[in-house]
Amino acid sequence: MEKKNSDPKLATLDYNNLMAGAIGEAGLTDADMKTIRDNLESAVKNVEAQYKKGGLSFMDLPFKDDEVKKYLALAEKYRKYENVVVLGIGGSALGTKAVFSALKPMNHNSLPAAKRGWPRLFVADNIDPEGFNILLDGLDIRKTVFNVISKSGATAETMSQFLIVHDRLKRDLGKTTLKDHLLITTDPAGGVLRKIVDSLELNSLDVPPGVGGRFSVMTAVGLAPLAMAGVDIAGLLAGAGTAQNEFGGGDVMNNKAALFAGLNWFLAAKKKRPSLVMMPYADSLGQVADWFGQLWNESLGKAKLLSGKDAATGQTAIKALGATDQHSQLQLYMEGPRDKTICFLRTENFRNNVSIPKIFEEHPELAYLGGHSMGELINFEQRGTARALAANGRPNFTISLPQVTPASLGYLLHTLELATVISGVLYKIDPLDQPGVELGKKYTYGLMGRQGFKEFKTAYEKGLGNHSKYIVQ
Ligand code: PA5
Repeated sequence: MEKKNSDPKLATLDYNNLMAGAIGEAGLTDADMKTIRDNLESAVKNVEAQYKKGGLSFMDLPFKDDEVKKYLALAEKYRKYENVVVLGIGGSALGTKAVFSALKPMNHNSLPAAKRGWPRLFVADNIDPEGFNILLDGLDIRKTVFNVISKSGATAETMSQFLIVHDRLKRDLGKTTLKDHLLITTDPAGGVLRKIVDSLELNSLDVPPGVGGRFSVMTAVGLAPLAMAGVDIAGLLAGAGTAQNEFGGGDVMNNKAALFAGLNWFLAAKKKRPSLVMMPYADSLGQVADWFGQLWNESLGKAKLLSGKDAATGQTAIKALGATDQHSQLQLYMEGPRDKTICFLRTENFRNNVSIPKIFEEHPELAYLGGHSMGELINFEQRGTARALAANGRPNFTISLPQVTPASLGYLLHTLELATVISGVLYKIDPLDQPGVELGKKYTYGLMGRQGFKEFKTAYEKGLGNHSKYIVQ
């Protein structure tokens, strides 16, 4: 991997408020920083070695220019449609939601077609029947393409949506039109969805086999629907490429991905801070916190070390949104249990701003606001909150994007993915699997009557025992 200098134009990471000099006893000392550096140096080497051996193929994704061309061509093909609906969940949905909400105007879907220029994009990542009905009833399916996304082709939520949509398309538009309204994104060879693609000759895209769901936003999983909604996916990948080029080879303490991993690992594992609050101060970045929550929690929360030894690792990522949650969650972060680190996410320049008028100046309670912009106010609130937390001995740090752009967002997402695999090494776990998600699925299969899972239905019923006496009617 080629080492390039960090590009200050895409993001900065300010961790002054993690240091003992700023926050006292809870903060990091020079000795702590030496431990972090030593561990990071070997962790980064380990990640590089895994990559060289052909693992961690998400690290190649930023440089797949041919893929970008393919999805841009696809987007042109589907441009005539009014709606693109992603049917997917978890890693097959959260990245698309995060990038779409960060890079397209919040009202994209409600703009008139001429102003929008691209289809509307909906991501159906739940199986609440009320929500799903409302979504389908509100769309003209003759003008809709459903992008069914499931790497495994087996996820109950997505497969049930697929069955419903397939049935409705066939019933309302006829079997021959299925091809026009379904685009399937799945494993190139395995899974039932691939079999259906082959037998019905449906249009399809591949999820690269070496890339797991929560690392897949820069594959067909995210790039195809995002391109179809007119997102600048080339810019997104260019930013991710900058993060990848920065990684490895230089001083780990100057690398944002390594620092993010090392600082949080030390705070969680050695300084009793098991929770990490991700708090963007911009509506456009709110869903980045949701995407990060899955990446961090599903990757690092593990029962076993790689050695097979029992453990319970990880750091719980929690979402908060500034300034809104200053008025709901902040009291706890300021004065409640000393178990959290706060990561602020901010943008220096909002893409559009609004001035606060200088009126009612006779009232000092209002006069100080006039003449500032709303962007200034939210950013001063973030700075003030960070300082107040520090003054209360609460560790916090800030990632700042000069502006939310395709490049800065791509840079941020890829940096956080790199931080996740480095953290995997620090915790000595496999960050790419999710065995804990499986057991709940097996009980669901049993309860839904899936062949081969009857024992889980029996176990479920047995588990109920006489717990019914603890249900208050
Ligand atoms: O990160 C992951 O691997 C998971 O969140 C999956 O993306 C999620 O379970 C959906 O899986 P699939 O794409 O196989 O339907």
